[in-house]
Amino acid sequence: MTAAGDPPGEPSGSLSRRGIVAGALALAACGPRANSQPAAGPALALKDFALFPFGACVQASHLEDPAIAGLLTRHVSQITAEWEMKMEYMLLDTGGFRFDRPDRMAAFAQAHAMRLFGHALIWYAQKPIIFQDMAADRAAFAAAYDRYITAVVGRYRGRVCGWDVINEAVKDDGSALRDHMWSQALGELDHMTRAFKVARAADPVAPLFINDYNLESVPAKLDLYQRLIERLLKAGAPLSGIGCQTHCNADLPAGALTRTIAALGRFGLPVHVSEMDVSITRSRGLLTPRAEREAAQARLYAEAIQAFCDLPARQRFAFTVWGMRDSESWLVRENRNDAPLLFDGQGRAKSSHGAVIKALAARRKAQG
Ligand code: G3I
Repeated sequence: MTAAGDPPGEPSGSLSRRGIVAGALALAACGPRANSQPAAGPALALKDFALFPFGACVQASHLEDPAIAGLLTRHVSQITAEWEMKMEYMLLDTGGFRFDRPDRMAAFAQAHAMRLFGHALIWYAQKPIIFQDMAADRAAFAAAYDRYITAVVGRYRGRVCGWDVINEAVKDDGSALRDHMWSQALGELDHMTRAFKVARAADPVAPLFINDYNLESVPAKLDLYQRLIERLLKAGAPLSGIGCQTHCNADLPAGALTRTIAALGRFGLPVHVSEMDVSITRSRGLLTPRAEREAAQARLYAEAIQAFCDLPARQRFAFTVWGMRDSESWLVRENRNDAPLLFDGQGRAKSSHGAVIKALAARRKAQG
């Protein structure tokens, strides 16, 4: 358990450097094994090997489930609300708010010396009826927009380690920025600079992120994302962090993650691998044996960790996986044959967990 006050990523408790190396060597000696054979004893704790905050997304109900909560307290030092800190949960059709579940997450994070990452303020996929009804009245829309951001960011000021202010601004093919209710009402770039500025006014300290996906698989999207970041910084947006969601498919070519994370690191800002999972059913190579797709998955997790470790320490904001157990993954809700995460439905560590631990341990050993 990372004790309060430990700098993120420092091994806490009794885990010594010798323990790290021993753990990694033990793992290496395991050799290839079925993807989730029960290892003897609890899986090696991810946050103890990480040189940075290691996170996972959560739902409020997970915190009441001892199996999931136990995995969280053992393995992660940061949590992200999977959906309950978005408009779809917090903003009522009446214009009122409900904060019960986000408050529970904030309390859980505080009780377990974890960071809470705020996700996400403005997203094209969230179209609350109250804003739709105001779309024709720009002044009212703008006032409600500012009021929402101010209320939410203000409430969690001092209790979050950062916010995804703008989520998924770039079209899937990278041809343009998305056109949606927010951009139509307040301007393609202006709605973004406005959101960053209002969030900064509500919280003078929290790093403010932009966040997007498929940056590793659609070069045009990565290019436009980088140009958007440049435009926002030039326009004076207090953008102070870059999110790379990293929802991958197992057939992603080796090197893509390395190039992407390195490209985003060139801004010199904190980088958040913010939502990593690796689908083994969405990949086009569906016909390859499952074991091969699982091995590819493990390699991709290791590559992402290595690329993230290659960033300067000051830029390693956090490495977040989009869930702890396969059974809670949004991808498994889409296809029950998928298995995108580090633990199976029974909470047993998979080969992807082993790959992450080995990559982290190797970096920690190299760092001395
Ligand atoms: O838990 C309630 C359930 O009680 C209710 O009966 C049901 C029907 O209303 O809704 C359930 O909540 C759903 C929740 O997922 C939990 O399953 C919400 O409706 C649904 O909107 C929510 O979807 C989330 C989605 O974002 C939209 O917020 C997914 O869990 C979440 O994984 C997904 O995460 C996104 C990131 O925010 C952005 N990047 C892509 C990523 C995957 O799409």
